[in-house]
Amino acid sequence: MSSYSKASNGEEQQQLVCVTGAGGFIGSWVVKELLLRGYRVRGTARDPADSKNAHLLALEGAKERLTLCRADVLDFDSLRAAFTGCHGVFHVASPVSNDPELVPVAVEGTRNVISAAADEGVRRVVFTSSYGAVHMDPNRSPDAILDETCWSDYDFCKQTDNLYCCAKMMAEITATEEAARRGLQLAVVVPCMTMGPMLQQTLNFSSNHVARYLMGTKRSYPNAVAAYVDVRDVARAHVLAFERPEARGRYLCIGTVLHRAQLIAMLRELFPQYPVTAKCEDDGKPMAKPYRFSNQRVKDLGMEFTPLKKSLYEAVVSMQKKGHLPVIREQQRAYL
Ligand SMILES: NC(=O)c1ccc[n+]([C@@H]2O[C@H](COP(=O)([O-])OP(=O)(O)OC[C@H]3O[C@@H](n4cnc5c(N)ncnc54)[C@H](OP(=O)(O)O)[C@@H]3O)[C@@H](O)[C@H]2O)c1
Repeated sequence: MSSYSKASNGEEQQQLVCVTGAGGFIGSWVVKELLLRGYRVRGTARDPADSKNAHLLALEGAKERLTLCRADVLDFDSLRAAFTGCHGVFHVASPVSNDPELVPVAVEGTRNVISAAADEGVRRVVFTSSYGAVHMDPNRSPDAILDETCWSDYDFCKQTDNLYCCAKMMAEITATEEAARRGLQLAVVVPCMTMGPMLQQTLNFSSNHVARYLMGTKRSYPNAVAAYVDVRDVARAHVLAFERPEARGRYLCIGTVLHRAQLIAMLRELFPQYPVTAKCEDDGKPMAKPYRFSNQRVKDLGMEFTPLKKSLYEAVVSMQKKGHLPVIREQQRAYL
């Protein structure tokens, strides 16, 4: 599939696609990637006029091919209006939060998106899930390979207050069931902890994960393992999942799995001038073991992954430029 489609007069025209949550960290990069590939893009935001969305209008191609429209995922009519005439929908919007009151926003919001897309004759939806819906299972064997067949343990997520993971699991299941019921093609991108430069001005959750270490507000790091990926790779995975006609179902989007000690070591090496902690919360206990994973499905779509060191470096430089991190020269470190 390309960014062109045939109009009723036989002429080729650029396809129109909609991105929900266009102004967020991942949404902004999805919009940028789509514009670079020639699509006409409609981006949704709850308040398109808010200055936090202004960066979108400055993207290359935005003047000619991007429009922003107001939509809340809980407002069905606003979604229908946003999807009118669209070939595809990228459903990226979701609260990134453990607040129990926001769980229904993720789940009912997703049901609304699929249903509104079907009503408007959209053929294909790409849904942004999370590896929070995949990896949270305390009973998974340490030798198991994390892949698209894996699901988090819902009760475990609930008991440990990981309500964001519960919400993403339920939202993904809702998307899959509703798309099957309505005859929509669905591809699901499953990103892990997403790193890299921010296009938007406001600090999102995963960028803040790194900022807290650089600011020294995290006094120790957990004895834990996590999976990481570059935000530009996540955006590319969304577009590949849309463009490849055979793409269906889940695509794990994981570049690398690291113990937090390794992430910290990388940050300390790249930015020795920041007061990044060297203390593990569990000093003396055995280190949590990295698990194996498969990113073969998304690689088969044509995906290549960015090295995490590059993502981290560019994430920090972008947070400095946007004023979220002080620019510290090495000799200033002692005063922090
Ligand atoms: N970043 C990561 O590490 C990561 C990893 C895995 C999966 N994900 C998934 O990727 C997606 C984007 O995350 P992100 O990191 O880019 O977060 P983000 O920067 O906080 O963006 C979240 C977006 O969701 C929108 N949103 C929230 N509630 C909404 C509602 N009721 N109606 C409409 N839009 C709403 C926000 O739009 P407004 O402008 O209207 O507030 C915002 O654009 C989410 O689905 C998240 O679960 C993220």
